[in-house]
Amino acid sequence: MCGIFAYLNYCVPRTRKEIFETLVKGLRRLEYRGYDSAGIAVDGNKKTTTEDNSNIVLIKKKGKVKALDEELYKKDCMDLEVELDTHFGIAHTRWATHGEPSALNSHPQRSDKNNEFVVIHNGIITNYKELKKYLISKGYEFESETDTEVIPKLIKYVYDNRERDDLSFSTLVERVIQQLEGAFALVFKSHYFPGEAVATRRGSPLLIGVRSKYELSAEHIPIQYNSGLFKEGVQDKNSHNRPDKPNNSTAVNSAGDDKAVEYYFASDASAIIEHTNKVIYLEDDDIAAVVGGKLSLHRLNSLAGEDSVRAIQTLQMELQEIMKGNFEAFMQKEIFEQPESVFNTMRGRICFHTNKVILGGLKDHLKEIKRCRRLIMIGCGTSFHATVATRQILEELTELPVMVELASDFLDRNTPVFRDDVCFYISQSGETADTLMALRYCKDRGALTVGVTNTVGSSISRDTDCGVHINAGPEIGVASTKAYTSQFVALIMFGLMMSEDRISLQPRRLEIINGLRILPDMIKKVLTLDNKIKSIADELYQQKSLLVMGRGFNYATCLEGALKIKEITYMHSEGILAGELKHGPLALIDKHMPVIMIIMKDACYTKCQNALQQVTARSGRPIILCCQDDQEMSENAYKTIELPHTVDCLQGILSVIPLQLLSFHLAVLRGYDVDCPRNLAKSVTVE
Ligand code: F6R
Repeated sequence: MCGIFAYLNYCVPRTRKEIFETLVKGLRRLEYRGYDSAGIAVDGNKKTTTEDNSNIVLIKKKGKVKALDEELYKKDCMDLEVELDTHFGIAHTRWATHGEPSALNSHPQRSDKNNEFVVIHNGIITNYKELKKYLISKGYEFESETDTEVIPKLIKYVYDNRERDDLSFSTLVERVIQQLEGAFALVFKSHYFPGEAVATRRGSPLLIGVRSKYELSAEHIPIQYNSGLFKEGVQDKNSHNRPDKPNNSTAVNSAGDDKAVEYYFASDASAIIEHTNKVIYLEDDDIAAVVGGKLSLHRLNSLAGEDSVRAIQTLQMELQEIMKGNFEAFMQKEIFEQPESVFNTMRGRICFHTNKVILGGLKDHLKEIKRCRRLIMIGCGTSFHATVATRQILEELTELPVMVELASDFLDRNTPVFRDDVCFYISQSGETADTLMALRYCKDRGALTVGVTNTVGSSISRDTDCGVHINAGPEIGVASTKAYTSQFVALIMFGLMMSEDRISLQPRRLEIINGLRILPDMIKKVLTLDNKIKSIADELYQQKSLLVMGRGFNYATCLEGALKIKEITYMHSEGILAGELKHGPLALIDKHMPVIMIIMKDACYTKCQNALQQVTARSGRPIILCCQDDQEMSENAYKTIELPHTVDCLQGILSVIPLQLLSFHLAVLRGYDVDCPRNLAKSVTVE
């Protein structure tokens, strides 16, 4: 969804140009999350000192971050070379939910024409209409169509009506978020509190990176609890007027005289990693404030038994993992990373000598899972397809009924869930709103919840009882590729772990474990087909439609392949269960309709051959994904793409790769931006 990035330098002189560059770079790293408009707020030409009311300048632009970047240097009023010893800048890249993409609707949103308070926001404020009505009745004028705009207006309202002059910035924010319903990650800047930052979240991720020349003074940040909060002693009463003066709270940067420190606020670690690997993940209702260069944390509501500290964690991510390298697009890079990413999913978890599979995050709950009534697998989009792909083998290995559910539909149906159900949440980002809501729904009903995510520290990974991290590495391309194959492998490993003591299943387990052992090499072989697939794309790229047909273990590949094609090439594409062909889709077949069929040597081979006959009998000219040296397929196909043969339940990992590559080449040939498909965002944090 949208991306938040903010940067605060304290006692670290930076020119305005350097500040712009840092903010823009942060936005670029987040652009994959949403990219229809972008904006920043920085201090204007006056120096940020105690006496000055910094005149906050907002620069916003429709389009990608590049357009905003160009705009920044057009402002004559902004002296680029001026050095700012202490400064706080906020930036945002938007994916429209309320109000069309436009400069006015983009963030930061502001309190008034003087930009007294400015805010960047990820998420949705569900009660914004009521708040807006109230604020309008108090004389506040709105300029955008966004839900976000109520937030800066509300903080101004609280400020204008404060009972005391010495209310801190964070107290104002606390009062604001008490009124908000919905999901949010927020960063506030105000001209009344120069050089100060306040950030908070509920339901949307937010983390803070800390960089200091000096050793960080703490491994944890203590949390000040609840509304006793921001009282004297916790925060200097008048600190907002004296940003250079340190206060007494225990916080990051409290040691020694050396005050120089930089803070990075972001919705995603990929925007922070090039500056620092020391981060603090905020929890729901945490309020983080930087005053006088010190970061302190407070909570809106404290619950019994909660942690009283937030750990300063070390990110394991490497910068090169989020760089494109020699590839044309992140998606292409991620497709080619799959030999390593699936290897990393298995690394340290499968012992190929003893045939043991251990998923550390699940082992303490294994007994409970084995006793359950059924497994419910929940996800959206590609993550849902990973559940379709593995359902059959999970049923076989666990001998339990397995339901696969699209999160939105699962909720729409008020699906009955019981205490003895085990519910899995599959999500690359770990932040998808529908999946998160399904998680809360099942938790309320007492089911055991299991997360399968690619993002350490994400909401799903934290809110579930236990889970598996798929370890695929950061996925930046909006179209999911390597996360799918790693989810696929992780779910199969779960099945293998569950079946370890079933004697009758040992030959099957062994076959699968052997298949997994050589899977990375098999993927490498499939990737060598890239040129052939490019030549097929050359033939197809001007078509309007593309059907993808298969059944059994390869049905999920049809769904996933068609999704990849439609999302980045904007061609119409449908994944069709070959068993359903006669029940409708056959009517689409003629000599003009491009059809891809997946026909592998597995239990469905003969049935797929029947489907092939039906297609060729209607003058269809299928391109067939088949096993190497399948003479019969070569004779009946318009073209074949021959894949190495593997165990039936793993074949879908190999058969999806040609379709990932095909969609990539089609999109390039059609002239589209592969990593930023129109109307889509990487992490869908709204319903
Ligand atoms: C498609 C795609 C989406 C996501 C879906 C769920 O390429 O990326 O369909 O799979 O939005 O996202 P996660 O896995 O982050 O929950």
